[in-house]
Parts: sequence; C-alpha cells; structure tokens
Amino acid sequence: MEEQHLLHEVDGNVAIIRINRPKVLNALSLPLMEDLANLLEQYDADDSIHVILLSGNERAWAAGADIGDMATASSDEMRRRNQFAIWEQIKVIKKPIIAAVSGFALGGGCELMMHCDIVIASENALFGQPEINLGIIPGAGGTQRFTRAVGKATAMDVVLSGRFLSAKEALDFGLISRIVPKEHWFESALIVAKQVATKGPIALRSAKASVLNAEELTLSESLVEERALFYALFDTDDQTEGMNAFAEKRKPNFTGT
Ligand code: CAA
Repeated sequence: MEEQHLLHEVDGNVAIIRINRPKVLNALSLPLMEDLANLLEQYDADDSIHVILLSGNERAWAAGADIGDMATASSDEMRRRNQFAIWEQIKVIKKPIIAAVSGFALGGGCELMMHCDIVIASENALFGQPEINLGIIPGAGGTQRFTRAVGKATAMDVVLSGRFLSAKEALDFGLISRIVPKEHWFESALIVAKQVATKGPIALRSAKASVLNAEELTLSESLVEERALFYALFDTDDQTEGMNAFAEKRKPNFTGT
C-alpha cells in the first residue's frame, strides 16, 4: 500500500501536520504540495483550530522540491505547471503556522519553512538553498525571503556556494526563532504551539498579518495597517475578556469573537 505523504491529527486547538516521505528525505513532490496547501486551507477555515504545527521527521524537515519531478522538464513545461500557485495558497493562510524542524531544511524545504511564522529547530538542523548545485536557483522565494531574513552577505554566501547553515548560525542570522535540544525537538515545538493556541484567535490572525506586512509594505503603509488592525480588535469580545481577566487577576478565556 502506498504511504500517505502527509499525516495529520488534532491535539486540542492545534492541528499537527507531518510531512511523511522519509525514503526521500521528505522531498516535496507536486502532489504533496497540492495536498499540503489544501490541508492548510482546511484547518485555516476550522474555527476550533487556532494554530497549525507543521513538522517533518527527525532526519529531515524537507530536503527540497522533488528533483525527480523536474529532472527532464523544459522551461515551457515548468511554466505550464504553474507550481508556484500552490505556494501562493500557503502564503495567505491566516492562522499562525509553527515549524518543528529537525535535520535537513533545504531548497524548497527551507522555502516552506520560511512560509511558517515561528520556527523551532533542533540543534542538529541544517538549512540551505543548494539549488546552485543542480544548475538552477531557488524558485519559491529562496533568494528573496532568505535575503530579507539574513541579509545580503549571508544570502549570497548560502545561495552561491550551496553551503548549509547550522542551527546556531541560522539562529544568529535571524532565519529561525529558537533552538531546542535534539531529544525533544518535536515536543518543544508542540509546547510552543499549544501556548500560542491559548491566545485569542482574532488577535493571533491580526498579529500575523501585521508582522507579515513589514515584509511587503513600506513602513508608513504598514503602520497605517497596524493601526487599523489595532482599532478593529476593540470591537471583539476577546479584547474585553483579555482586559477584564487582567484586572481580575485570572487567565483569560478567549472565545474568538
Ligand atoms: N528530491 C528527490 N529525492 C531526494 C531529494 C530531493 N530533493 N533529497 C534527497 N533525496 C533522496 C535521495 O535521492 C536518496 O534516495 P535513494 O535512497 O533512492 O538514493 C534519499 O533521498 C536519501 O538521500 P541521500 O542518500 O542523498 O542522503 P545523504 O544523507 O547522503 O544526503 C542530502 C542528504 C545532503 C540532503 C542530499 O540528499 C541532497 O543533497 N539532497 C538534495 C538537496 C537539494 O538539492 N535540494 C533542492 C532541491 S531543488 C528545489 O528545492 C527547487 C525549489 O526552489 C522549489
């Protein structure tokens, strides 16, 4: 029987998705990416889910796009496939996506990780955009998001040489959020996901949207957007509950309204 390339389950308000092609280091085939985008949309539309945790396995988060899918393709064929439409679907997911990364996060795998909002990485994780070794360049944002995250000097080093960054380098350069011990990489990320999932869902969506605006808009534009999101939250029950709970010295019970 063919293995499922994605495994998923729900734990409280957290949806957990695991990329599951261990024999090819979780290479991101086109059908896998299509299913992943659809699954993310499904959880994004489910009010009981507050946070999505996206994970690979211990050896690999994902070692890139599936090279076998592209090896004999022409430029015209690659354009016709329009595979990056799938990545646009992932880009507009509104709920926080937390990446639990162990092992290789390379090429399209690193690009997928950069579509996530918080990256919790094992101390053994390795990051890179080694497409140059295949005679191509990154195509899902690897030259752009990587450069915005780490700056031109490191981006040029990684993209032109194909070298991998260690978890410590990735943290120092601002590519990932936290490093955790390799024995507990998944559990540590799940703890973060569950902790974020206790926050108000509307405020979480607004916060994600506002931080992402910093990558797309000018400072003046994104400050206007931030203010609009800030004001809008004062019409929510969660704002009243959050501030009442603070005054009453208790934990807030956010309802997402
Ligand atoms: N696509 C398809 N298969 C892959 C793969 C990928 N991206 N990465 C690894 N595999 C397969 C290998 O072919 C191998 O399969 P077999 O056992 O059938 O030979 C299996 O996974 C295990 O890999 P290795 O034997 O190579 O394992 P290793 O520990 O010696 O090396 C590695 C690990 C350094 C990650 C190496 O596998 C590697 O360099 N992989 C390719 C990384 C890469 O170039 N990624 C970019 C892809 S292009 C891209 O992503 C474009 C884009 O921007 C969208």
